[in-house]
Amino acid sequence: MVHYNSPQRQNNYKILSIDTSCDETAAAVTVGRRVLSNIIWSQVDVHRPWGGVVPDLARKEHQKHLGEVVQSALTRADANSKRFQLPWRINWDTIDAIAVTQGPGLAIALEVGIKKAKELAKKHQVPLIAVNHMEGHLLSPLARNAKAHIPQREPSTKKMPTLGLLISGGHTQLVLVKKIGDYQLLGETLDDAAGEAFDKVAKMLDLGYPGGPIIEKLACQGSPHRFQLPVPMARDPSLNFSFSGLKTACLYKLRAIPKKEKDRQFLADFAASFQATLTKAITIKLKKVLEMHHPKQIFLGGGVINNLYLRKQIRSVARKHNIHVFTPYSRNLISDNAAMIGIAAFFKAQRGEFVKNINLLDRQPNLNFPFQASLN
Ligand code: KG4
Ligand code: ZN
Repeated sequence: MVHYNSPQRQNNYKILSIDTSCDETAAAVTVGRRVLSNIIWSQVDVHRPWGGVVPDLARKEHQKHLGEVVQSALTRADANSKRFQLPWRINWDTIDAIAVTQGPGLAIALEVGIKKAKELAKKHQVPLIAVNHMEGHLLSPLARNAKAHIPQREPSTKKMPTLGLLISGGHTQLVLVKKIGDYQLLGETLDDAAGEAFDKVAKMLDLGYPGGPIIEKLACQGSPHRFQLPVPMARDPSLNFSFSGLKTACLYKLRAIPKKEKDRQFLADFAASFQATLTKAITIKLKKVLEMHHPKQIFLGGGVINNLYLRKQIRSVARKHNIHVFTPYSRNLISDNAAMIGIAAFFKAQRGEFVKNINLLDRQPNLNFPFQASLN
């Protein structure tokens, strides 16, 4: 068992992390907040023919690849350590702990990662840290690269409260960080997540899967003003979101338009109109939350954050409130990955939050932050 004592030891804490919550088989090695390796085996080609993630296929793919993904994470981390002349070797003798995603996610996919993490923790006699996948997305802007290069403007672990805006294929959440480890869910989607809406509208337009990046690319050549779509929850006083109505409005609009009119410009204009409407729904709630909670900085996480139009609109709202917006330093930390799990685990290790009885650790497919309804 590792003794977790000196501050220097804490900053150099070496974690092997695993995430199998959805359709990426991921493993990473982090040292403190440095990412030494971040291996992602994407299953997107396996799920593409079905137009979405098939849980049983995801489980099989995780089982098939997790072993080699973990090995690659260790090998790559050691190679990077040598390459950047860091004072550590990375192998099972030097790994201090294993972190694994406990939830939220697909139950049968989560199980694969948890089983592997338990086996490895027992075999190598290291402690286990169970991580909320969404806490990983939330803290992903705090990750540093292997050289621990610190940019001019860095997110702070001290400037609290911090607002987390998490937008992915499964979640759309506003989270207040009172301090690292102390979170309050302020609002979330009542139905579809924003990424899910991107994927479903892309499907309606026959654009392929996953739809988010395709819609963004098309939208660059289109006009967001051609189609009027309803902005969901615009007048709702809560900080919750809803995207299923927007999806249905898209469906009806598309049905009403004859096929021969659906040329490339039509697709671009529709993509741009949809993207702008969805973004508006998000920035309306962002303005509201900034006025209500006065956060000192904003952290963005989740796959939809890849969308540059959305980011630009978020930054423009934040600028009016004089608040900085931080995103992870690399795209590989935005979509599902294990390095973000390692970052969240590092802070948990600092708080001494290790799994007490490894045998009892179980997946929690609906794991969430504590919710507290916002007062208006
Ligand atoms: O965080 P993520 O990789 O996985 C989940 O935890 O869900 O997010 C995946 C989602 C998908 O719905 C995908 O379409 C969306 O992120 N996405 C995007 C973009 N890139 C990925 N949505 C809009 N614009 C993008 N550029
Ligand atoms: Zn995710």
